[in-house]
Amino acid sequence: MIPKHTIDQIFEAAIIEDVVGEFVVLKKRGVNLLGNCPFHNEKTPSFTVSPAKGIYKCFGCGKAGNSINFIMEHEHYTYPEALRYLANKYQIEVEELEETDEQKQTANEKESLFIVSNFAATYFQQQLHETQEGKSIGLSYFVERGFREDIIKKFQLGYNPDAWEAFTGEALKQGYQLEFLEKSGLTIIKDQKHFDRFKGRVMFPIHNLSGRVLGFGGRILKTDPKAAKYVNSPESEIYHKSNVLYGIYFAKKDIIAKDNCYLVEGYTDVISLHQAGVENVVASSGTSLTEGQIRLISRYTKNITILYDGDAAGIKASFRGIDMILKEGMNVRVVLFPEGEDPDSYAKKNSSSELTDYITKNAQDFIRFKTSVLITEVGNDPIKRTELIKDIVASISIIPDQIQRSVYIKECSSLLDIQENALINETNKLLRKKFTKNNHEELPITEENYTPFTEEEHPEEETDIKHWEDEIIRLLIAYGDQTIELEWLDEENQEQKHHVLISAFIISNMITDELVFENETYQTIFNEYVVWVNEDKTPTHQDFISHQNPAINSIAIDVLSHKYQISENWERHSIFVNKEENQLSLAVLNTIYAFKLSKLNKITNQLQEDIKNAKTDDDSLILMSQLIGHQSAKKQLAAKLGRIILR
Ligand code: CTP
Ligand code: MN
Repeated sequence: MIPKHTIDQIFEAAIIEDVVGEFVVLKKRGVNLLGNCPFHNEKTPSFTVSPAKGIYKCFGCGKAGNSINFIMEHEHYTYPEALRYLANKYQIEVEELEETDEQKQTANEKESLFIVSNFAATYFQQQLHETQEGKSIGLSYFVERGFREDIIKKFQLGYNPDAWEAFTGEALKQGYQLEFLEKSGLTIIKDQKHFDRFKGRVMFPIHNLSGRVLGFGGRILKTDPKAAKYVNSPESEIYHKSNVLYGIYFAKKDIIAKDNCYLVEGYTDVISLHQAGVENVVASSGTSLTEGQIRLISRYTKNITILYDGDAAGIKASFRGIDMILKEGMNVRVVLFPEGEDPDSYAKKNSSSELTDYITKNAQDFIRFKTSVLITEVGNDPIKRTELIKDIVASISIIPDQIQRSVYIKECSSLLDIQENALINETNKLLRKKFTKNNHEELPITEENYTPFTEEEHPEEETDIKHWEDEIIRLLIAYGDQTIELEWLDEENQEQKHHVLISAFIISNMITDELVFENETYQTIFNEYVVWVNEDKTPTHQDFISHQNPAINSIAIDVLSHKYQISENWERHSIFVNKEENQLSLAVLNTIYAFKLSKLNKITNQLQEDIKNAKTDDDSLILMSQLIGHQSAKKQLAAKLGRIILR
């Protein structure tokens, strides 16, 4: 139990941007901070932190709360755990009563697994540093490998004694439950007997983002061809391999600082690079790289440099990794180490500066890398050469950002001496194939797939809210950065003249009348537009075409692949178009009013329906008066539509 005054103290000390900032890269946006939401997968930031209010809110997934909520949600902590975490962070002393046995039992399962893992990490370290066996077998192994004392401590390396249940026995003696020892994988139960999974191995604890131990890798010390070199913790409630990267806790600060993350294969690579002063490094730990792992990195940087051995397996693994990273919209470079060397062995044989030199000099973007690897097999064989080009184009077509794609196409064209157009065609072919397979992916714009809006697709009816939403988004994306001159007669029949940005006109109308889009992606686009405008920026259609969010991206492409056409029903509002350039002004005004009208129509239709079904006279009277109000608004709006005059 944590007393109330301590809780108050913690709330007072916790600075929201500081608490969140440990897990999310935040950038200043006006009075708020903005970042990628850690609770759902997104490529455009919609996660907002308000230092003034002490809260966070994600406009994408709706998660919101204060510092404590954030830690609870993010770290899967209970309320007291989150409080303790923050107390520790802000060095507030927590006086609390010793936990009772009952409390120990009710701590939820995840928490129990964390507790058991933490105990194990401490135990393995004690064994390594304080016992005869640990020192002479485990510690001397690490020292022989050249690991410095401070690095061994930093990574909390340890040793599990070479006895059947050294660890399990001690844990049980200290009151930890067998259930959780087994669930964490530290103990194996067989025929009522229990054994240590990591018997006689040196231990590498694996930490989550906030430094809690989730699992372990244990390395064998003898060379035994029958036993696995590494044994790892199995999947558990707290250890999901595909979402964990070894070393991320120690690397995250430096990844942000360097705006780059080195990706290596093994535990020892991470540790050796740290020892050499390279701290922005994580390992996929022998498993093949997963989407989840890449997304974890993408919270901190968009740049990954793969550091793999130069052997065939390393190259193959890097090819697979490259495409996965590209698919997430990130930049990838590759460094191959000389054959027979991995980052660990290279760091041991060379000085820190030689290592960093090697990495900077040998980092290649993926096109150069793939080309240089594959070209050796090609020679003068035209068929092989075609295959090489197709292989590289396939990687390029994975990149979600169109602009980035064209940059790489340029490079590929000059590197392989092929016409850019040929590469563009080939890329588009692949994209189209993907598009037909999956309608959500973007379609490249070519004459072939250009189709103007048709009547069926967009029935031009004022009552069709969806149609007018389409039109508004079209205007915003395609013409938002242009100005129009509006001339109209006001209530007193006075001529009014205004120059306004199309986006400003749309936004002010939407906000004043509290209009929202029924299409969620449209609303996201709109919200983002408002954020930009608040920062005195006017996005252009390029910003949307190259948008990281594929949903927005494809809408922009869709919208821009159609020319604006004037709708015929405007004549019904006695609007006269007498100049070509007035069409745009007209389109803006008409669209906004027609959208409002369609919304009002929907409301009045609903009200009429409700009146029919009203149970009491009072109900129907109230509904009637609402209906009358809305109908007069409708009349005014219709009149406004009729009063627009353009010269
Ligand atoms: N690995 C594993 N199980 C194995 C072999 C490897 O889980 N049987 C994982 C480990 O995470 C290891 C990584 O794959 O760190 C890379 O393997 P390897 O290069 O063989 O190991 P190193 O990290 O180089 O370890 P060492 O230098 O101690 O041999
Ligand atoms: Mn190695």
